[in-house]
Amino acid sequence: MAREFTSVGVVGLGTMGAGIVEVFARKGIDVVAVEISEAALERGRTTLTGSTDRAVAKGKLAAVDRDALLSRVHFQVGLDALHSVDLVIEAVPEHLDLKQRIFAELDRVCKPEAILATNTSSLSVTEISVATTRPNQVIGIHFFNPAPVMRLVEVVRTVVTSADVVADVEALCERLGKVDVTISDRAGFIANALLFGYLNHAVSMFESRYATREDIDAAMKLGCGLPMGPLALMDLIGLDTAYEILDTMYRRGGRDRRHAPVPLIKQMVTAGLLGRKSGRGFYTYERPGSPVVVPDEQTPVASESALADGARGIAKVGVVGSGTMATGIIEVFAKAGYEVVSVTRGAEKSAKVFESVKTSLNKGVVRGKLSEADRDAALGRINWSATLEHLADVDLVVEAVVEELSVKKALFASLDEICKPGVVLATTTSSLPVIDVAMATQRPADVVGLHFFNPAPIMPLIEVVQTIRTSTETTATAKAVCATLGKTGVVCGDRSGFIVNALLFPYLNDAVKMLEASYSTADDIDYAMKLGCGYPMGPFELLDVVGLDVSLAIQRELYLELREPGFAPAPLLEHLVTAGYLGRKSGRGFRDHTRR
Ligand SMILES: NC(=O)c1ccc[n+]([C@@H]2O[C@H](COP(=O)([O-])OP(=O)(O)OC[C@H]3O[C@@H](n4cnc5c(N)ncnc54)[C@H](O)[C@@H]3O)[C@@H](O)[C@H]2O)c1
Repeated sequence: MAREFTSVGVVGLGTMGAGIVEVFARKGIDVVAVEISEAALERGRTTLTGSTDRAVAKGKLAAVDRDALLSRVHFQVGLDALHSVDLVIEAVPEHLDLKQRIFAELDRVCKPEAILATNTSSLSVTEISVATTRPNQVIGIHFFNPAPVMRLVEVVRTVVTSADVVADVEALCERLGKVDVTISDRAGFIANALLFGYLNHAVSMFESRYATREDIDAAMKLGCGLPMGPLALMDLIGLDTAYEILDTMYRRGGRDRRHAPVPLIKQMVTAGLLGRKSGRGFYTYERPGSPVVVPDEQTPVASESALADGARGIAKVGVVGSGTMATGIIEVFAKAGYEVVSVTRGAEKSAKVFESVKTSLNKGVVRGKLSEADRDAALGRINWSATLEHLADVDLVVEAVVEELSVKKALFASLDEICKPGVVLATTTSSLPVIDVAMATQRPADVVGLHFFNPAPIMPLIEVVQTIRTSTETTATAKAVCATLGKTGVVCGDRSGFIVNALLFPYLNDAVKMLEASYSTADDIDYAMKLGCGYPMGPFELLDVVGLDVSLAIQRELYLELREPGFAPAPLLEHLVTAGYLGRKSGRGFRDHTRR
């Protein structure tokens, strides 16, 4: 029989603690909520009532249930109030000495059979446990932010946590409606070990002005379907907490430089820019604690018209190539009203592309998203050609041929001879340096990257890659074109992986390394990222969809360009590719797809 938890204590009512109180009180469990001072207690109370009031306003909680929930919470200053609870969850700031002091005190105050749990994200639960005389009753219960919403709980057992304590806590998680993954005591557990390298990398992109905060966040939301961008997430986590987590992970996790906190984080913490809780972090909020972003001096000003930014008018677009990307891009431009010249290597290829575009447009008609007349007009706007000479009078060329530098360079040299002056020349490369392609022409200022995502007609994001030679007019033109296509163009520098792949693939590679180290299973790692961080797919699901060979190639490029030891491809990934396990397309990757 699992232990009954009738009353629990929560220590620290900040970002996490207030949410954890709500999780328990919602399930009919009495909570003693403890803070360090009356003022802090009041802040915690305000967070809890704010959250439950919002739930009532959204119709997710009845007013009587909110009142009952609040009546179950007893707010107290000082740990002495915890003498009769069955379980304590500590959620004070991420400092080992503070947590150890609190655990020594809890050990003295709490009844002998009480379980003592920490919500630490990165500190050693074992080191915290040895501050008590009952390390076998100490465990990690790691909730995710916001605790009432996120379904995952990481249960962290140390080498001395007793099996019945683990079982009791697992049963409790189920009662709370949470999904638990039980793991051993390693820095960052599953989710944070995979998340924080990515967050830190995103901050370094912002710090080095590689892209704006809005563009970094939009790229990850629209390119990967994440619920929020990395900088907005840093603000939600709290920059002070994020700093401590990174710092601890750096020291405990083998001094991986990717976890060494980017200097800007420390500067912001020192300046009191802690994120949502202080009303200002990477973004500015309506008031402390509010999720509502308000404009500040970094907010991009929408100009009167794109032409005011120096954007050139584009009416006729050439698309070179006949693969998946070229086909999608032709459709996107034709649908948006541009006159399109498609250049392939022959009539047969053109016929194939035509069929694919028609089939795709027909799907839109069947789904009621496109009228037959609009489909016919879109198809009528496409001119089919097998010679580059037909691009002499276009305003923009988008190249989407094979991903080989020599081929792209030769093509751009030809375009340079054929195209009229002032044309914007764009490459869709996802891994080659745009500057290499630009320098194959005599007009590098007119060359830009337009990195579409697959499938182009559906994905709402385009990375606009400017080289050190790209003119501001060319970038402005490219951005304006993205807008007319109904897509968000994010501007970034010309580095391997641009924004999305540079942030996404090292995370996927880290997940493979975690599996390889037998720290957890593919299923639990996928759960952790989906239920703890709201990702649409877990890393192994995504790797199987993208293809392990493609993922390995991208990861190799990143490693070669940045020489970051932590980016070295996971040996397991290499082996799977060698073995022909490429993911869904070959029937087997991390999972066997032939049996499903
Ligand atoms: N922020 C997140 O997204 C997140 C997610 C999961 C876990 N965590 C972990 O949760 C813990 C708390 O983080 P947070 O972001 O909620 O921090 P926070 O700074 O928002 O809140 C900490 C609270 O602890 C209180 N406190 C400090 N000393 C105390 C004491 N001696 N007795 C009682 N209360 C005390 C503070 O007044 C404050 O209200 C950390 O271990 C963190 O790693 C954080």
